[in-house]
Amino acid sequence: MTQPTTLADFLQDAGIPAALREGLLSVADACRDIADRVERAPLTGHLGALQQSNVQGETQKALDVIANDIFLDVCGASSAFAALASEEMEQLWAREGRSDGPYLLVFDPLDGSSNIEISAPVGTIFSILPRLDDRIGGTVLEAEFLQPGSRQAAAGYALYGAQTLFVFSVGSGVAGFTLDRADGSWRLTHPDMRVPPLSAEYAINAAHRRHWDPGILSYVEACEAGASGPLGRDRNMRWSGAMVADVHRILVRGGVFLYPADRRPGQAAGKLRLLYECAPAGWLIEQAGGRASDSRTAITAIRPGTLHQRVPIALGSADEIATFETYAGAED
Ligand code: AHG
Ligand code: MN
Ligand code: MN
Repeated sequence: MTQPTTLADFLQDAGIPAALREGLLSVADACRDIADRVERAPLTGHLGALQQSNVQGETQKALDVIANDIFLDVCGASSAFAALASEEMEQLWAREGRSDGPYLLVFDPLDGSSNIEISAPVGTIFSILPRLDDRIGGTVLEAEFLQPGSRQAAAGYALYGAQTLFVFSVGSGVAGFTLDRADGSWRLTHPDMRVPPLSAEYAINAAHRRHWDPGILSYVEACEAGASGPLGRDRNMRWSGAMVADVHRILVRGGVFLYPADRRPGQAAGKLRLLYECAPAGWLIEQAGGRASDSRTAITAIRPGTLHQRVPIALGSADEIATFETYAGAED
């Protein structure tokens, strides 16, 4: 079998600006390093939690911090990026001195980090935003990061699962690459990923059922009712504990992923972060023919008010999200 195209060659042929190409390659390099650290964590004593929290009040795992530091080292050195912002850092990070980098990088360094010690899948999510031409070379302001997902120049994820994958879009479809451990290259194994329109699987953490709003509850009850219910088809439920793994499953097999707002303290806008998780995942799903919604508005149309803003999300097969909106998006 001839070797599939490398990521570097694919990007060379993609006709995108050189700085974007360089930025994407640095993100892929960082993800390769993170994959190594995740894989070796039981051997290096990095499976556990630290005695510290991030800005969202979540306990950090050792690997959350290691993965964040890898991004700062690898992508912070790329001339593509003027500044970086992460779920694990309260404030944006900018290189000392002047930077002409035309892009901003936003990332969730380790998604689903509670899966680490059970050897279940974890991932990385990233988003590349353009700077306005008249800001390039100037001090980066936090406000520059507060762009709706529709403005992304590129977005994607790495999945550290049964295989190590790098999946992204530059605004013209979605392509997936598998890490070849033999030489460290990323190889094109999933060209032109499309969300299958017919879905049998839905993903929601049903342990929070008693806190849901009526619209969410009625949609999930319709899924559970299967062929004899209003949706007319039997379903399976899947919840991986890592959004990246659920998004990847949707890109391969279709279905929906839901993390709604609920009535628990602190969950009035759901759990997942707009900039680091929802906007990149939502844009990627749109690029593959699916949809992402907060139940009324496209996720990629929402302009963040703050770096760490959360948002309720439903993403997946386009028709299924439209159905979900008729249940959950109706005015009370
Ligand atoms: P993170 O590890 O980056 O904080 O993200 C975890 C997220 C997401 O990946 C997953 O879908 C969700 O949290 C799981 O939440 P529950 O623990 O409520 O199931
Ligand atoms: Mn996450
Ligand atoms: Mn995370």
